[in-house]
Amino acid sequence: MDLSVVVPTYREALNLRELVERLCAGFAESGIEGEILVVDDNSNDGTEELCAQLAASHPVRLFVRRTERGLATAVIHGMRQATGRVFLCMDADLSHPPESVPELYRAVASGACEIAIGSRYVEGGSVEEGWGLFRWLNSKVATSLARGLTKVKDPMGGFFAIRREVFLNAPPLAPLGYKILLELLAKCPKARAKEIPIEFKDRKFGESKLNLKQQLLYLRHLRWLYQFRYPVLSEIFQYGLVGLTGLAVDLLAFSFLYRIFLVHHLASRAASFVVAATWNWAWNRRITFEGARSRARLPQWAGFLLVSAVGFLLNWGIYYLLTTRSAFFLSAKELALVCGVVAGFAFNYLGARLLVFGRSVVAKAAGRTAPEPEPQSLVGK
Ligand code: GDD
Ligand code: MN
Repeated sequence: MDLSVVVPTYREALNLRELVERLCAGFAESGIEGEILVVDDNSNDGTEELCAQLAASHPVRLFVRRTERGLATAVIHGMRQATGRVFLCMDADLSHPPESVPELYRAVASGACEIAIGSRYVEGGSVEEGWGLFRWLNSKVATSLARGLTKVKDPMGGFFAIRREVFLNAPPLAPLGYKILLELLAKCPKARAKEIPIEFKDRKFGESKLNLKQQLLYLRHLRWLYQFRYPVLSEIFQYGLVGLTGLAVDLLAFSFLYRIFLVHHLASRAASFVVAATWNWAWNRRITFEGARSRARLPQWAGFLLVSAVGFLLNWGIYYLLTTRSAFFLSAKELALVCGVVAGFAFNYLGARLLVFGRSVVAKAAGRTAPEPEPQSLVGK
């Protein structure tokens, strides 16, 4: 078998016949021995009957998942059953032109690349007129958030061909939501990718299943992928982000106590420190060092407060020492401040990392498995 085309479907009965016919015409014309694997998530819209009909005269196989939902996992499911030398993934709604399939296939089969991507955003590629500003912006923002994971211009489209071995030898895949191509690009950075221009069409029948929930899933998926690719950096980034929110909490608590309850400013300062450090501890336990969530709270909280207090002293101590002992820093006080903040932050992070939350908690994104799917949350009407 040359090519296995995997088509995830959810309520696409109106589009399937045309898709299969146009695909098979392309196979015949290009001399490709191809199969079409439809992975349907219990649409109950006649897809099963239609596939049974089509299978009589076309190389169509149907897999129905009764309890699982999700585009990306459906694609993985299909690829695990595929027998071709090249796997290809595309939407069922004719957004991805079936006529481009042979070109994508050839790019991989010839060895020109290992992942061939049908791309809207390279020269010659396009989307239909009438994409509203919102849809365009949405697509651009989503794409730029993935910039750190891949240089590909259109990693979001979900129209791609991949060499069988690259898929089978990929690290454990755990996509959330829609972005199966991004998952593969991020986890197989060594695979050579090539973008091939396509004309993206809007669907004629049925409606898009991309909703707000999927967009939020995308953000979580991104986080997993960044953790996979840059485990240490992403931990420091999350620690810093939590720290910034902590600063806001610190300020708020301080002015609350000092301005409204008229507590002495030093007492207010001490109390707001405890509040902010507690806030930071809670969010770091929940997010940055989520692997340490199973540990006892009280000693962890106390340890975190201690580390934060030392970091705080270090921050101020360095400022004090630099500006009193060095003529240079006396005239460059801002620089002294930055030195203190950086040293304090570094101490805080390392202390939290090594002493409080434990060494062994780097979220092993590689070994993550996607959470159990919800039973049949039917999206759309
Ligand atoms: N099996 C299965 N399960 N298939 C699904 C599911 C699901 O939960 N949700 C969607 N699909 C199928 C649809 O039936 C269709 O064949 C394909 O996945 C894409 O879904 P659409 O509902 O057409 O989504 P879209 O047009 O908004 O999104 C497409 O374009 C985006 C770029 O504009 C997809 O290609 C996205 O990956 C892409 O980001
Ligand atoms: Mn679509």
